[in-house]
Amino acid sequence: MEKVTVSTSSKYEILIEKGLRKKVKDLLPKKDDCKYILLTDENVDRLYGAEMSAELSEYKVIKYVLKPGENSKSFEELQKFLEFMAREDVNASDILIAFGGGVVGDFGGFAAGIYRRGIEYIQLPTTLLSQVDSSVGGKTAVNLSEGKNMVGLFKQPLAVYCDPDFFKTLEDQDFSSGVGEVIKYGVLFDRELFEVLSHGIDKNQDLSQIVKKCVELKRDIVEADEYDNGKRQLLNLGHTLAHAIEIKAEYGITHGRAVAIGTMVMVRACKEEGIFIGEVQQVENCMQRNNLPTSTEFSVEELFELIERDKKRRGSYINEILIEEIGKCRLQKFDFTGLRQLIEKGIK
Ligand SMILES: NC(=O)c1ccc[n+]([C@@H]2O[C@H](COP(=O)([O-])OP(=O)(O)OC[C@H]3O[C@@H](n4cnc5c(N)ncnc54)[C@H](O)[C@@H]3O)[C@@H](O)[C@H]2O)c1
Ligand SMILES: [Zn+2]
Repeated sequence: MEKVTVSTSSKYEILIEKGLRKKVKDLLPKKDDCKYILLTDENVDRLYGAEMSAELSEYKVIKYVLKPGENSKSFEELQKFLEFMAREDVNASDILIAFGGGVVGDFGGFAAGIYRRGIEYIQLPTTLLSQVDSSVGGKTAVNLSEGKNMVGLFKQPLAVYCDPDFFKTLEDQDFSSGVGEVIKYGVLFDRELFEVLSHGIDKNQDLSQIVKKCVELKRDIVEADEYDNGKRQLLNLGHTLAHAIEIKAEYGITHGRAVAIGTMVMVRACKEEGIFIGEVQQVENCMQRNNLPTSTEFSVEELFELIERDKKRRGSYINEILIEEIGKCRLQKFDFTGLRQLIEKGIK
């Protein structure tokens, strides 16, 4: 079993192993007199619910099932879930298990953060994206109609249990969404990881080492900047554009696929500007081998209108991530005119 320790305001371990879902019962903290609230969504419940209930049969477990998809990250759903926990007498010694993708993890972490001023929670992520990204680092949130993740808090989990065998049942679009974020890590920090990804990865191969590498890279960033005031913003590579594309497509594109386009646009723009010293084609090939899109049908005008409303706007500036070479990036402040000029150079 691989173990990655995260030393933030609270310290916790991320455990990674194929088949780990069959060991959850022995990994849980086993507090006396504790109930577990198993929060999941309908897809994960259909595929793994019975197996997980059997695994946890010797514990007191109450289950709550969300509808799959981003719409569940709403105040309305949150209130229903908080009221469910209240009816079930969930108290400060009980532990929530967020068993699903990033939606369940973000929603569950936020609910755990605010219910009775906070109970503990464990992440049991079931998608590639949630194992390499959303379950690590303690960002939790729900959405407002004005934008994604607009209300949330930092709450580190008690532990994260990653079983890469879960990927086998993912829809192709959901798997490649995770790969989009994994390639982002390679471009940001790690040429070796990028080279591995360049051959293309698939959901049936053993991805434990790739998950571990990404988790370590994210851990290093989160430890250096837990509350997202500096270095952690590097993780937003390609995200300014990705968010605009997601909104414009009315979420008909998965997040990581939009990130792939956003990253590609930044690679091209940085090449045009003489900042990126690598080969654009190499990044494009990597995306394509992983069935990821590399361009958008939307115009700069359409996307920029949305970028101006982006929540990451700080005053009249946006911190953008520039790529110098594969594995080396930096943050730079742009005003809107400068950012628009940059993005225009990257959109084909
Ligand atoms: N907190 C953070 O730091 C952070 C970082 C990145 C993304 N996010 C959030 O994560 C969310 C996206 O996460 P996601 O991509 O995991 O989406 P998701 O949770 O919607 O899961 C994608 C789909 O896969 C299904 N699914 C989950 N596990 C499965 C499995 N093993 N087999 C088959 N189907 C399965 C789900 O039911 C859903 O339909 C977004 O809400 C995003 O804002 C948060
Ligand atoms: Zn992302």
